[in-house]
Amino acid sequence: MENKMNKEVRLGIIGLGGMGSEHLRNIEAGKVAKARVTAVCDVLPEKMEKCGDKYIKFTDSAKLLRSGEVDAVIIATPHYDHTAIGIDSLKCGIHTLVEKPISVHKKDAEKLIAAHTDPKIVFSAMFNQRTTPQYIKLREIISGGMLGEITRVNWIITNWFRTQAYYDGGTWRATWAGEGGGVLLNQCPHNLDLMQWLFGMPSSVTAVCSLGKHHDIEVEDDVTAFLEYPNGATGVFITTTGEAPGTNRLEVCGEYGKIVVEDGKVTWTRNTVGQQQFLRTSSQGFARPDTWTIDIPCPNNGPQHIGIIQNFVNAILNGEKLIAPAEEGIKSVELGNAMLYSSLKKKTVEMPLDSSAYATVLKKLINDSKVDKKKKQIKTADAANMGDSFKY
Ligand SMILES: NC(=O)c1ccc[n+]([C@@H]2O[C@H](COP(=O)([O-])OP(=O)(O)OC[C@H]3O[C@@H](n4cnc5c(N)ncnc54)[C@H](O)[C@@H]3O)[C@@H](O)[C@H]2O)c1
Repeated sequence: MENKMNKEVRLGIIGLGGMGSEHLRNIEAGKVAKARVTAVCDVLPEKMEKCGDKYIKFTDSAKLLRSGEVDAVIIATPHYDHTAIGIDSLKCGIHTLVEKPISVHKKDAEKLIAAHTDPKIVFSAMFNQRTTPQYIKLREIISGGMLGEITRVNWIITNWFRTQAYYDGGTWRATWAGEGGGVLLNQCPHNLDLMQWLFGMPSSVTAVCSLGKHHDIEVEDDVTAFLEYPNGATGVFITTTGEAPGTNRLEVCGEYGKIVVEDGKVTWTRNTVGQQQFLRTSSQGFARPDTWTIDIPCPNNGPQHIGIIQNFVNAILNGEKLIAPAEEGIKSVELGNAMLYSSLKKKTVEMPLDSSAYATVLKKLINDSKVDKKKKQIKTADAANMGDSFKY
């Protein structure tokens, strides 16, 4: 690959709401090397007022992408637009970093990924929790085989507490047409991505998703899912935005003990003899393997968003391996979709999920919605780019 080490990447940010503005602040503060924002875009001009005259401003992402002013973009719009703008960006030959989730549903994710035809174009996704040292360490232990065969995973991730004011504050939020779902689409893409990054994809998903259980919203805000993995391991994934203080505890059990990631710590209670080996060979009915407790040092929270943007820039300039290739983002979309599909159909979903079947169900939810779309100011995504899965 051509060495472009001395150059810098000209970045455009599309969507200057909460997250897009934070990305802008980080880059303006010089926290990302060899990157310079040259253009911004928001459908609401007032969102760009804070930028003064520093950047070229667009209210239409298509114009920004064709302006010649950017090498790369960060897409930080509401979820449905990730697909449409992402496809447009890739077709324009612009390096693309898309916020999570890469799309609302698997069929759109397939379309988005299919638009990435040029391997020279870098296509990344904002899975910033992949930079968290605790999860990196856990992945090293699992992939290195140190924990042995995984038998069970449990993630209680219930500290995504959100108030009714949060849901009322964003016009697109918590509606099937505007956001495409609730906690599984907004907060949990990080956890679902880590689940598949750490443990691979399950072979089946059975879930109960309660719609508007804690909030006056039409989408899910409380989920309990049971996962079965190809090797016979099982998993439970529990999440909600309606519980305070909530818990974030990931527990992984394998042949060589139990690892818990909680409160920023990774604690491995390690079996000195494998559990299956002990179970089969011990002559005593109530004996159990001796254990060592190991506190695995993980110094800080990791670089998070800045780390992903820096990696994106480095991938463009010198071919650095991506931390979170956007193609991998389809897996968290599929997991979230499968949980909703299982709950709505009241049945176990065998994976892989049928993307067309889920798109049909989602379209029906949108059509049957009682939410006043005008009051919510829901702007439907660009149907021309999205094919016929979203002509609602
Ligand atoms: N990675 C993270 O930790 C993290 C955290 C929060 C949000 N997010 C993600 O960031 C994205 C944006 O979320 P947010 O909380 O900033 O929402 P937001 O509502 O605060 O901001 C969205 C912005 O996009 C603009 N917009 C809407 N349609 C557009 C279009 N077609 N073209 C250009 N601009 C458009 C809106 O006017 C708004 O200013 C979502 O995908 C969300 O899931 C990620």
